[in-house]
This record gives sequence, C-alpha cells and structure tokens, in this order.
Amino acid sequence: MSNPFTQGNYAPVQQEHTCADLPVIGSIPDHLDGRYLRNGPNPSAEIDPDAYSWFMGDGMVHGIRLRDGRAEWYRNRWVRSPHVSRALGEPLRPRNPRAGLDLLGANTNVIGHAGRTLALVEGGAANYELTDELDTVGPCDFDGTLPGGYTAHPKRDPETGELHAVSYFFGRGNTVQYSVIGADGRARRTVDVEVGGSPMMHDFSLTEKHVVFYDLPVTFDVRQATATVAPSWMRRPAQLVLSALIGRVRIPDPISARMTRFTRANRGYPYRWNPRYPARIGVMPRSGGPRDVRWFDVGPCYVFHPLNAYDTEDGVVLDVVRHSKIFDADLSGPSEGAPTLDRWTVDFKRGQVREERLDDREQEFPRVDERLLGKKHRYGYSVGADTLYKHDLASGRTETRSFGEGNQVGEFVFEPNAADSAEDDGILMGLRYSAAEQRSDLLLLDAETLETVAVVQLPDRVPNGFHGNWVPTGA
Ligand SMILES: [Fe+2]
Repeated sequence: MSNPFTQGNYAPVQQEHTCADLPVIGSIPDHLDGRYLRNGPNPSAEIDPDAYSWFMGDGMVHGIRLRDGRAEWYRNRWVRSPHVSRALGEPLRPRNPRAGLDLLGANTNVIGHAGRTLALVEGGAANYELTDELDTVGPCDFDGTLPGGYTAHPKRDPETGELHAVSYFFGRGNTVQYSVIGADGRARRTVDVEVGGSPMMHDFSLTEKHVVFYDLPVTFDVRQATATVAPSWMRRPAQLVLSALIGRVRIPDPISARMTRFTRANRGYPYRWNPRYPARIGVMPRSGGPRDVRWFDVGPCYVFHPLNAYDTEDGVVLDVVRHSKIFDADLSGPSEGAPTLDRWTVDFKRGQVREERLDDREQEFPRVDERLLGKKHRYGYSVGADTLYKHDLASGRTETRSFGEGNQVGEFVFEPNAADSAEDDGILMGLRYSAAEQRSDLLLLDAETLETVAVVQLPDRVPNGFHGNWVPTGA
C-alpha cells in the first residue's frame, strides 16, 4: 500500500539552509520583532514507505527572523536526537535520561519560554532545548523539575505567563499528569490524575477556572507492541515489564531498543483506536486534586486539538476539531474521516455534554487569539488543504481564503498588532507550499480581512508539518 505521508510535500528535505535578507513581497509590519518557528517530521535517514509513520519522523525546526520590516534570516535545523546525530555523522549531544525517552526526535511543536527555545513532543519522549538560531543544546527537563517527558501542547496563561500542560506516557500506567511551569521555566505544581487506561492525550483545554482532560479511545496497545518488539520467548516478560511500568520508572535499554525497532517498523505509535475504551472528558478545578475531577461521557471520537475553551455559569464550553476515528485501519497518520469543528457544552448540573457541529468542512490546526486563551473568544482560525478558515462564532459565519489548487497551507498563528488591539486586529502567520515552484513562503495576512500583508520567500520547501508559533524577541 502506498504511504501518502512520504509523498509530495510530506517528503523530507535533505539540506539545512542558512539564508540572510530574504526577498519580501509587500511590507512586514514594524512591530513584528521575533521569530516565526515551525516544527515537523523530517526523517534524517532513508525511510521505508511501507514502514513509515508521519508521527515518528525526526524533528526539523524551521525559523524566519523578522525585525525592522525585514526578513533577516531563514534557518532549518534537524533536532539533534541521538538518531539524527548518528545519521548525520555528528558526535552525540549530551544526553539526559531524566528528560524522557530519546528514541524519537522532538517533532511536534516549538515554543519560546523563559528565554529558551524548546522543540516539543509527547508520549514520554524528551523535549530539546535549541539556541535562538535553532542549534540543538540538548534534552530539557526544566532544570530537573519535570522529568519523564512533557507534551507538545502546553498553554500559556495570558494573565500569569505560566505554562499549563497535561502529559501522557504509557510508562505512567493509568495516570496522566497536569503540570504548571512558572514564568521562570521551572515546574511549580504537578497533579497525577487517574484515567481509564493509557490513552494518547495529545492536547487538553484550559479555562480561567478549569483544566479539561480528553480521555478518548486511542490507547497504548501493549500486546500489539510486544508481539512485534519481542521475540516469542520473551513476550510474556516484556508484556509484564511494559504493563508494570508505573510513574517514572525508566524503561530497560533492551526493551527501549526493541521499542525503537517496533516504532520504526510498524508505522509509528503503538497507539490504536480502541472501541472498548469509553470516551469521556474530565473537568478539574485548576487548584484541585485528582479527586476533584468530574467525568462526562461523549460519543466515541478523537480530538487532537481544541480551538479554545471557557467557563460558563454552570459548566464549560469546548470548541474542538473532532475526528470520528483515527488509527484503526491506517497507522501511517490520521486519515479515517474528515475532521470537523464542533462545540461541546458541558453542563455541570445535568452531568451532560451537548455536542453540536459548528462547521462540517474538513479542517485542522485550530488557533485563537491567545490573549483570550481560557476566555470567551469570538474568532477562531483553522486550515483545510488549501484554505484558511476564519470562524466568527458570534455571528456563526465563516470567512474563507483559498490559496488555489497546487498550494497547501499549514497552521496559522495570530499575533495582535498591539497589546490592547481588538480580537482580530492582528497578523496571521503561516506557511504556504507551492507544488509548481517546489518552494514555500511565509505568509503574513491581515486577520481582519485575510488579505496578504507580506510574503517572505523561502529558498526551499518546508515539508508539511505540525505546529508553529511566533516567538517575540525576549520571550
Ligand atoms: Fe498537535
């Protein structure tokens, strides 16, 4: 079977570029002083299309430095996991087993926090600190305050600047961990919350008062993993070891080596659709403990990404991109049904969730003006293959900007024009790929009208990837 995640603009690029003074069409707003960064999978060694999972590719971070109306540089750098360093023939970077498993590159998100640039991933794998110019420093465990891996989707509280997150890892057994990392870059609080098994919990939601857990039916498949990783004589011990891994117990090297071989040989995550696992969401007060979580049933589905969430008088509202099913028949990537924009209204008094469809067109990578993270928003942005959507959730209308056949766009991030500007008074930044030119551009759009403000021309393709962010200078 052909693997769509190795073709077209999913194919990796082979070269690391360092380019200064990029050509710009239009004009870059003067207030943009920082870096647009984007992470995504980019295998560093030859891959077998029959075996490759998009989610397991080595991480590559792309960055464009903007200042004084100029695009000062573009760089793309592999995140130097041990596997990447070996593939590139370089000495290994310092390792830190406490930071998490370093079998995989951090390929999912990239943020700035407390003066550090961090390439992020999930599932117990190590995050990596990068320099401002995207060279790898080494694994990050937040000065030893948060061992055992983190998540690709922390959320910054706009009031405090703290990072809130929910992390999962099959090695934590049937718990996931809520954490708060201070503006100083050190964890100040963790709460372990019991869930129904070992779910893949890619993201979570944060409101002003609550933390929301998405305990959905994609779970770690021990039998599937060990049947492949272990020779038959050791399947039972391997299963016992994997099943018994609780908390921050380190996976023994022979097992982790086999896990590597398994993940590289079987299209990725040992996580699969699990029809027997109840789909539910948990709501915990921010200051609460594990016993304060209230659970609510939802229909079977998977949510990679909420758009935003906020409190109401008697509950919470969750706007999410909902996949009807993933990782059942196809483990190469999410492909089993078009994801839609849905609203889940949780009613604490009735103990129910009302589910409604806001937009049935295929879309993903939802973003909001993050000054409103956890608060009621009016606008949300998401993308289809060649289309940007701007949802006005007050009027129910959606504006679209299509970039035309042969063009693909990735996630757009919103940056306000001023700290106190209106909700859509700002710039949307994202990457556009042109199949005809075999090249990508950074687009800067007016968030109010979706019209182009500036196009920064890049020297090469940026392969389809995951998440990008604007990191202002000094953040
Ligand atoms: Fe994500």
